[in-house]
Amino acid sequence: MCGIVGYTGNAPAVPVLLEGLEHLEYRGYDSAGVAVVSRDKGLQIQKCKGRLRTLREKLDSLPPLEGTVGLGHTRWATHGEPNDVNSHPHVSQNGRVAIVHNGIIENYAEIKQFLLHKGVAFRSDTDSEVVAQLLEYCFNDHSDPLDAVYAVLDRLEGAYALVILCADRPDMLIAARKDAPLLLGYGDGESFIASDATAIIAHTRDVAYMEDGEVAVLTRAGIQVFDQYRRPVEKEHHTIEWDVSAAEKGGYPHFMFKEIMEQPEALRQTISPRLKGGELCFDELPLTDEKLRSFDRIYLVACGSSYHVGMVGKYNLERFLRLPVEVCLASEFRYSAPLVDERSLVIVISQSGETLDSMAALREAKGLGGYILAIVNVVGSSIAREADAVLYTWAGPEIAVATTKAYSTQLALLTMFGLWMAKRLGRADGADYAAVTAELELLPGKLEKVLADTGIYQYLGSQYFSRDCVFFIGRNLDYALGLEGSLKLKEISYLHSESYAAGELKHGTISLIEPGTLVVALATYGALIDKAVSNIVEVRSRGAEVVALTTESLAGKLEGIATYTIAIPDTHPALQPNLGVAPLQLFAYYIALQRGCDIDKPKNLAKSVTVE
Ligand code: F6R
Repeated sequence: MCGIVGYTGNAPAVPVLLEGLEHLEYRGYDSAGVAVVSRDKGLQIQKCKGRLRTLREKLDSLPPLEGTVGLGHTRWATHGEPNDVNSHPHVSQNGRVAIVHNGIIENYAEIKQFLLHKGVAFRSDTDSEVVAQLLEYCFNDHSDPLDAVYAVLDRLEGAYALVILCADRPDMLIAARKDAPLLLGYGDGESFIASDATAIIAHTRDVAYMEDGEVAVLTRAGIQVFDQYRRPVEKEHHTIEWDVSAAEKGGYPHFMFKEIMEQPEALRQTISPRLKGGELCFDELPLTDEKLRSFDRIYLVACGSSYHVGMVGKYNLERFLRLPVEVCLASEFRYSAPLVDERSLVIVISQSGETLDSMAALREAKGLGGYILAIVNVVGSSIAREADAVLYTWAGPEIAVATTKAYSTQLALLTMFGLWMAKRLGRADGADYAAVTAELELLPGKLEKVLADTGIYQYLGSQYFSRDCVFFIGRNLDYALGLEGSLKLKEISYLHSESYAAGELKHGTISLIEPGTLVVALATYGALIDKAVSNIVEVRSRGAEVVALTTESLAGKLEGIATYTIAIPDTHPALQPNLGVAPLQLFAYYIALQRGCDIDKPKNLAKSVTVE
């Protein structure tokens, strides 16, 4: 996600801000900027698309930004492509306030409309700019900046970590938090604020974590914190013990582990802006009912894990929509004379948005007249730009080569889209719609529960890391999920694994099962649990050791059958793979850890595959 750093003290602010931003680079970003305020010069801002190096070069070529109070930002684009104008800080129309923002302002369009009617001119395409403009507007009624900030916060929906500079109060920074992290740093005659500790650790280890609803006022004399009702809050101080390199991974040993743990938050970012009052809404899609009705088939086109999202998606979309859904490997698609025409909806799924095979498939499908919907994580990426419509996953930057949170968010988004389309076409079963949407609200919390205890996966890693081969078996959605579990294991642990539809074993593969073979049996799909049990018995009777993944309500069926059973919370079957994937990611992670592999950068693999 984006990075924030703020400083107020006696030293020139810019070097402190740039150094802080450098430590936030690991989070991934596409643009950067700084703002300072001083009594003589008011607000001064520099920002640009690209790396911090580009910002430094820009700053070096201009008269220095003077001021001892300032803020900095690295942006990971969500609303509006990465460019100079969309970079943060954002300044209000008359230059009275500058802000940086992490998160998503869900009702930004409504606020923007309101301000446009009041004659406010906007510069960027971002959701964040509305905060700067609304603040300046609120200054008309409130001379005290804190009054204006509270008035603005009252109107914001969504998630935010906000830091604000006011031209007429050059002595302070104001910060506010809801569902996006901010921490305060206490120095000697100086105060800091940051989205994570790495940005300020070189200056202070004395920190306090802001809570949702809190507002902080930072001056060089100290920091005051208020709750949502503006009552003073006494913050508990913490001392940061870790060093910078550990902090960059948020204290986690690997980016992959960090990203696995970030999944509940990433899911919130994907789901909450599109689920309001129990109704799915995709305001970002230009698809009319007539256009939706015109589709007679759907293609899901992708590579690797994104293709596995498609494999799950096929089951869900066909059930919701009663339309034929074909899942295609992007690298095969254009060489298979696809039957795409103007009645085809082609959904291209890609984390990076730059995968060449997926891009080539997109162009092929577009050339044949298909309507292209992209599900992408990286805003402004090539696939996002060339598609007819885009749904962003908003999972934040993914650094580990093996995808985890991008897979989860793609999966949730595709399911949501399918259900939304079914509702628009009048094909959604009312009870099913209500059940899935209710479970979508609960999904991040349930995933937190799955991730709360990693002990069993650590143990399984220590038991099985030296095996030569692992089989994943499952039926229906569990089969699709097994494909991803097997790929995760292969790519980071270099252990050979195979994933099979459990019913296929008897058609050949079962000859490979012998005493001691490890089988990961996925048995979370309630409708076929008895068949899953039979398949487990089948491999057990040939001497296999079985690690079974099931749900809390189905666990009784597996008692005494598997070698180890892991039970995860139940949810709607369409969403169960979203909970089931986390144990498989952790299993792969701990096996790879035991085998001493380079988990974040597996050999021969790249994060973005831009060759055919
Ligand atoms: C597996 C993995 C790859 C990608 C694939 C597609 O962990 O990361 O299999 O899923 O290369 O990449 P995107 O989604 O960027 O198109």
